[in-house]
Amino acid sequence: MAVKIGIVANKGGTNKSSVALCLADAMIHCNYKVLLVDADQQCNATSVYDAEIDGVNTMADVLAGECSAKDAVQHTEMGDIIAGDFELAGLETRLNNEINRYELLSDALKDVDKDYDFIIIDTPPALGVYTLNAIIASDGVIVPIKADKFAVDGLRRTIETIKSVKDKSHKKNIRIYGVLLSSYDVRTNLGKSTWESLPKVGKQMGFHVFSTPIRVCQQIPDAQAAQMSIFEMDPTSNASKDYAQFLRELLGVIKHGKKG
Ligand SMILES: Nc1ncnc2c1ncn2[C@@H]1O[C@H](COP(=O)(O)OP(=O)(O)OP(=O)(O)O)[C@@H](O)[C@H]1O
Ligand SMILES: [Mg+2]
Repeated sequence: MAVKIGIVANKGGTNKSSVALCLADAMIHCNYKVLLVDADQQCNATSVYDAEIDGVNTMADVLAGECSAKDAVQHTEMGDIIAGDFELAGLETRLNNEINRYELLSDALKDVDKDYDFIIIDTPPALGVYTLNAIIASDGVIVPIKADKFAVDGLRRTIETIKSVKDKSHKKNIRIYGVLLSSYDVRTNLGKSTWESLPKVGKQMGFHVFSTPIRVCQQIPDAQAAQMSIFEMDPTSNASKDYAQFLRELLGVIKHGKKG
C-alpha cells in the first residue's frame, strides 16, 4: 500500500508544487516508486513533468468518475503522474451537488494503491473541494510555508482546517506530518524570525516542525524550467542536499509516528 501524502496550504506561492515535485525527485532518486497527483487547475506540476492535458484522461476525468485512476496515469521521463486539468475549475460547481464529493480522490486512489510506495498530491492555494479531497485521501499532510509577514496566520488556518476535516470525516487517522519552511533565506531577518517562531507555534498548535528547512536555491526554478529532476540537474546543489535530508526526516516521522 502506498503512503499518500498531501501537500497543503491555503496560501498561494508557499512552494506546494515545488515541494511535491522535489520530494518526488528525492524519492525516485532513492528508487522508490512514486505517483504524483496534480489536483490543481493551474497544472504546474503537470507542466514540469511535460505531461499531456488535452485528449488524455486527467484528474478531472478521475474525479468526475469517467475513468479509473490507473487509466489516467501517464508515464513521463520524470516519473508517473495523473495530470491536472484546467477543467477542474468548471467541475467544482458540478461536484458541489454530490454527497460524497470530498471522498472522490480517496476512493479513486484505491485503484493504484498497490502500484506505488508513495503517492504525492499537489493541491491548489485554497481550502476548497480539491484540497479537502487531497486531505481525506492522505495518510499524512505536509504544510509548506514561506517566510513572510502573514505566514503564521495562514499556517494557523491551514492546520485548523486539516484538524476539522479529520474530525468531520470518517478518516480519523490522517496525520499532520509537519510544517516545512520551504524557502529559507538565512541572510534575511524575516527568514530568521519565521524559522525561530515556528517551534513555539508548533507547540501551541500541536504540530511537528521539520528540522530541515529548504534553503533558497536557484536550482529549483531552473530544474522546473528545464523539466528536470533537481538531482539530475545538480546532485550537489543545496536543493538536492536539503530535499534528500528532508526525505530522511520525513521517512522517520512516517515510520515512528511522531506528533500529528
Ligand atoms: N527553495 C526554493 N528556492 C528558490 N525558489 C524556490 C524554492 N522553492 C520554490 N521556489 C520557486 O518559488 C516559486 C513558487 O513556488 P511554487 O509554484 O511551488 O508555489 P505554490 O505554492 O505551488 O504556488 P501556487 O499557490 O500558485 O500553487 C516557483 O517559481 C518555484 O520555482
Ligand atoms: Mg502550485
